[in-house]
Amino acid sequence: MDVLVSGGAGFVGSHLCAQLLNMGHRVHCVDNLVTGAERNIAPLRATNGFTFHLHDVVEPLDLPVDAIFHLASPASPVGYWEHPFETIRVNSEGTMRLLELAQRKNAMFLMASTSEAYGDPDVHPQVEEYHGNVNPVGPRACYDESKRLGETITAEFHRQYGTDARIVRIFNTYGPNSQLNDGRMIPNFITQALANAPISIHGTGAQTRSICYVDDLVDGLLRAMFTTGTAGEVYNLGNPEEHTVLEWAHLIMRLCESTSAIVFEEKRADDPERRRPNIEKAERALGWHPRVSPEAGLRRTIEWFRAELEQAASCLSLTSN
Ligand SMILES: NC(=O)c1ccc[n+]([C@@H]2O[C@H](COP(=O)([O-])OP(=O)(O)OC[C@H]3O[C@@H](n4cnc5c(N)ncnc54)[C@H](O)[C@@H]3O)[C@@H](O)[C@H]2O)c1
Repeated sequence: MDVLVSGGAGFVGSHLCAQLLNMGHRVHCVDNLVTGAERNIAPLRATNGFTFHLHDVVEPLDLPVDAIFHLASPASPVGYWEHPFETIRVNSEGTMRLLELAQRKNAMFLMASTSEAYGDPDVHPQVEEYHGNVNPVGPRACYDESKRLGETITAEFHRQYGTDARIVRIFNTYGPNSQLNDGRMIPNFITQALANAPISIHGTGAQTRSICYVDDLVDGLLRAMFTTGTAGEVYNLGNPEEHTVLEWAHLIMRLCESTSAIVFEEKRADDPERRRPNIEKAERALGWHPRVSPEAGLRRTIEWFRAELEQAASCLSLTSN
């Protein structure tokens, strides 16, 4: 198949491109590099069937496609606070452009939405039927609300034109190829722990998070796209193992053998108190379940961060010499 991955040079997209190539598909990676990096796809460049298109998906695009994974969007608070209008546009106009392409080419479509669509949830764990508790004018709204609009557009294409489209709500995912400094919990904690620098926790640390290793997420995305009967459906994808932020910090410090201290900073506005997916629907319909334990996934991620930070440090010392 010809498969388009928008946001393919990002963290999740680069893993998805690699897996699609392993499966024998031709991959069109489309990215404007606003938060992604060419180095994420450098190992794929030489692979047969891989093409990179430097392109903003808000603009029309014409490619031969059988399936479109729409992952393009800044995803971390740092990313969307730096690019609020780009975030709004890619999740609304960009979703529209890619759905138009899917409709023209009779291609399958998957929209990568987010657990942030549930806002600060008052239903726990979050099920797909829950409609969320989102502040439409808060600092996270450029992301949360534009993802919700992207979902609406996707649902409407399916309803009006019968487009073979589905939505996945992705919960906190981590792994190699993350941005080192994107302000998300796992990259932050690992970078700080490896440097034995203070680990900064926003709020009391009693808020909960559940984290999914990227290989598990990619497996879920592929199943959501290619399993029969998924068009028009919404699936949560994430790992339901839930811990407090403080517990995640302690686990990462132990795995990094770190001597960091923990410092508490002001709680971020609209930061959710509890986050855990209910994944029964994905388990039932897709036969999907996350397989990588947090400890195993974190060990692999820490090794990748260690190598990246060492490389960055040696580049820095070369430039200063
Ligand atoms: N990683 C997570 O924990 C997580 C959680 C929930 C949802 N998601 C969703 O998954 C998707 C991928 O997230 P990620 O963590 O890999 O983020 P990322 O920032 O690493 O990747 C996003 C990619 O999209 C590209 N992009 C942004 N706007 C674009 C545009 N207009 N045209 C073309 N390319 C554009 C960026 O350059 C980047 O390469 C996003 O849609 C995100 O909202 C991720």
